[in-house]
Amino acid sequence: MKRTTGVKIKGIGRCVPELVATNEDYAKIVDTSDEWITQRTGIKTRHISNGEPNFFLGAKAAKEALAEAGISADELGLIICATCTPDYYTPSEACLIQRELGAAGFPCIDINCACSGFVYGVDMARRYLACDDMKYVLVVATEELSKFVDYEDRSTCILFGDAAAAVVLEKQDDTLFSSFTAADGSGAPFLAARALLTINPFRAEEDTYDMRMPEPHRHYLLQEGKEVYKFATNALPLAVSKACEKAEIAPAELDAVIPHQANVRIIETAAKKLGVSMDKMVLNIRDYGNTSSASIPNAFYDGVKSGRIKRGDKVCFVGFGGGLTYGAVVLEY
Ligand code: UT7
Repeated sequence: MKRTTGVKIKGIGRCVPELVATNEDYAKIVDTSDEWITQRTGIKTRHISNGEPNFFLGAKAAKEALAEAGISADELGLIICATCTPDYYTPSEACLIQRELGAAGFPCIDINCACSGFVYGVDMARRYLACDDMKYVLVVATEELSKFVDYEDRSTCILFGDAAAAVVLEKQDDTLFSSFTAADGSGAPFLAARALLTINPFRAEEDTYDMRMPEPHRHYLLQEGKEVYKFATNALPLAVSKACEKAEIAPAELDAVIPHQANVRIIETAAKKLGVSMDKMVLNIRDYGNTSSASIPNAFYDGVKSGRIKRGDKVCFVGFGGGLTYGAVVLEY
């Protein structure tokens, strides 16, 4: 095992909306059943926004993480907010969260790497911290997928929920740390939600540019489930293997793997490929569904709070999603 300069997770926090939608609730709005959803995905319930904005969830998770870290928001050097469901194009979620924390005077950045956002965020935080001009970085992943889920499309609406989770990170010398992040833009059409259209008084009436994307005029999240499934079952084990290779440890030596919570079957297939037993995989998809970038820190939060993950454990965060993006981080908790 290689030791290097990495990050220490000083505090974690989480916030989910109180409103819960069960499989039975979905069976009332689309042609589905608890049996189908449970067998094909492992999901039973998701938490859904009852009108609370995305930044509100993120700020609450951030406050808990700061309290656990024992630092004030003024001591932060940077906020990185991972989200693909922001409340505004501008200001960023990170700026809104900073405002809610009552702090100012340091940079705030949003990153959109879909479900890999938390992994990318931790990787970026470590690189910022390495420059030694800031002491703490807050990484918040906050998502409200309910904003762009098509509640008439049974193959996608049953999958997604809303959640936020956050970590306060500090530079740590002589520790376990490695990261691997990647993307393959050729898979962009497989998971897409349209932003605003280019409408202005000067443009031609007809679109002249081939977007090479599905249904470009609808803002709903569109997913080629089978394509994403295929991608995920390769990307997940590949990312873990690459990050473990850099850290010079075998995947089987990890104490816990916290994967993006998209589908239990994806995680089972990936665990088999990696030679990692399922009891090392930390799962809470049953209760929250897929919450994009928030799903990894949300599962990590449950793992820590239940005592399943302890200080000193060698853990791996691994994500995959829209972009298509993927990546993994290996660190000592
Ligand atoms: O975070 C982003 C990453 N996203 C993912 O990782 C998602 C990856 N993909 C998946 O998890 C799976 O592909 C799904 C869960 C989305 C779908 O599961 P599947 O086993 O691939 O089902 P399928 O698409 O092959 O559909 C099988 C059948 C179809 O009916 P027919 O054509 O066989 O009659 C679907 O119409 O299941 C039907 N179906 C449903 N039936 C009941 C699709 N959705 C539902 C539903 N309830 N909700």
